[in-house]
Amino acid sequence: MKNLTRCAIAITLAAAIIGVAVFFALGGADPVKKLMKEHPYVFEAGKTIGTERQDSYSHKDGCVYISYPETKNESTDQAVAAYLSGVKAEFDQYLTDHPQEEGAERQIPRLVFDYKTEQTDAYCALTCFYEITPLDENGTGTAAASGQQTYYLGENDEILDLDGVLGENTEKKIDLMLKNSGLTTADLQTFTIEGDQLVLRWEDAEKELSVSDVERASLIDPDQPMIALTFDDGPGKYSRQFADLLAEYNGHATFFVLGMNVPNFADSLKYVYDMGNEIGSHTMRHKNLNKLSKEGIRTELDDAAEAIYDAIGAYPTLVRTPYGNANDTVMSVIDGPMIKWSVDTEDWKSRDAQAVKAEILNNIQDGDIVLMHEIYKSTYDGLAMAIKELADQGYQFVTVSELMQYRGVEPEKKIYRNFYPEES
Ligand code: NI
Repeated sequence: MKNLTRCAIAITLAAAIIGVAVFFALGGADPVKKLMKEHPYVFEAGKTIGTERQDSYSHKDGCVYISYPETKNESTDQAVAAYLSGVKAEFDQYLTDHPQEEGAERQIPRLVFDYKTEQTDAYCALTCFYEITPLDENGTGTAAASGQQTYYLGENDEILDLDGVLGENTEKKIDLMLKNSGLTTADLQTFTIEGDQLVLRWEDAEKELSVSDVERASLIDPDQPMIALTFDDGPGKYSRQFADLLAEYNGHATFFVLGMNVPNFADSLKYVYDMGNEIGSHTMRHKNLNKLSKEGIRTELDDAAEAIYDAIGAYPTLVRTPYGNANDTVMSVIDGPMIKWSVDTEDWKSRDAQAVKAEILNNIQDGDIVLMHEIYKSTYDGLAMAIKELADQGYQFVTVSELMQYRGVEPEKKIYRNFYPEES
């Protein structure tokens, strides 16, 4: 009997020990494991890059969920791994900084590191993101820290630079756009594209640019010659044709329009503008501003600006006064650059397509501003002949503002006649 009792006690004890061991092995006593079991994180679905590697485990007083891609490219994998290890270090620091408080309701910090992908024709955007969240026993909580990093990957999963993502010469173009800020793409840390916003990040600076501006500009090679074609006295019945002609050559121009003509050709002006051309002001009624008072000049400018705004939803960016007349009084009223020209086609005088063509081709050089009038069929015909030859010679057709930008000129309140390249 004694032996039997001892035996029973021994069996009971053994069973208890095994029970406790099994209980711990199943994670029943560990609140971290319990939470992970009851409220697991569900990784993002539908990833389109690489092979997904997943892991989840308890770590100190927290829990960790990690998912990252193994791609075709080693450098990409290394970049992701470096980002992940930085995130893990941050989580460790978080655990150290937030010890479990005596008697307080238990909070279990959770680290999630996951990724998602977005495929376009040009690249696959791989976004790795993380969140550190202290969770209550119901698995809910508010993120205490989070971050993300987007990589733009090419055909072989290689990380693309700006040129790779947005097209050749993008970096050159952006450097020119940033010329006066002291920032360059050479020390750029990261960039992201969200809709039409390109966000560039440096160590201690951030800049946003419009993707469409950059993309359009990236059709232009800053090292090749460029000119600004300008058209005065419209809008008129040929406006659309001019815009279509320019588009054939990936070109844009600046249209200095008269406010009084806008209501009659509002749709045409909108068309020209929507095609990416620049709309400038040629004043309201084509008066000789040198003979007007300050108030008179201001009225001419303001009325034109309103008429243009009504038609296209934007105010004119630049001014060209009628006849290019701009005495000191005029200049005191104009708010910004006043644009003259360096090549005068005299198209209004000749009304002859061959003569217009010859005036352009015989006088053109890199950085010129060409004066034409969009109200003559002969001007259209002359330009149509000239523009083909200019394109063959490597000329690119940009707006006055673009030309200014490419030449690194900060717009000032003064008269400009050309934007020739700096002597080197
Ligand atoms: Ni005029």
